[in-house]
Amino acid sequence: MTKHRVLIAFLFTIASLGLAQNAAAACTLDISAADMLVFDKTSLEVERSCGEVTVNFKHTGQLAKTVMGHNWVLVASADDIQPVAMDGMAAGIDNSYVKPGDPRVLAASDVIGAGESTSVTFSLDTLTASEYTYFCSFPGHWAMMKGTLTIK
Ligand code: CO
Repeated sequence: MTKHRVLIAFLFTIASLGLAQNAAAACTLDISAADMLVFDKTSLEVERSCGEVTVNFKHTGQLAKTVMGHNWVLVASADDIQPVAMDGMAAGIDNSYVKPGDPRVLAASDVIGAGESTSVTFSLDTLTASEYTYFCSFPGHWAMMKGTLTIK
């Protein structure tokens, strides 16, 4: 009887650890881009219950960030892409092509190049809509390089 209980407790612990790992994984999103004007994913999804989300972004290409740099920028909708990108271009690479303090930018990573990785963590508290747009604000990339973040 006692052995039986210990076994059940043990199995329960293993199951709980498994669930915790799954929950953590779902609140962390992985996305990448190579030497083309495209992300490897045109859509990402996260559960609202995560509270905050971390986006891990990897450059899987060969080209330097000054030539084929990429970043991951979150805005409310596709209508924001062009004006935010124009202001980002003016802000330059030292600002990762994002205007400092731009209120339209909800989250943004650094610009990265060949083989580099970066990540950005942000709260979902103020993101009350169910759909947002992400794009790369490197000059000339915004028209092609974009996707949709859905908060479920
Ligand atoms: Co890019």
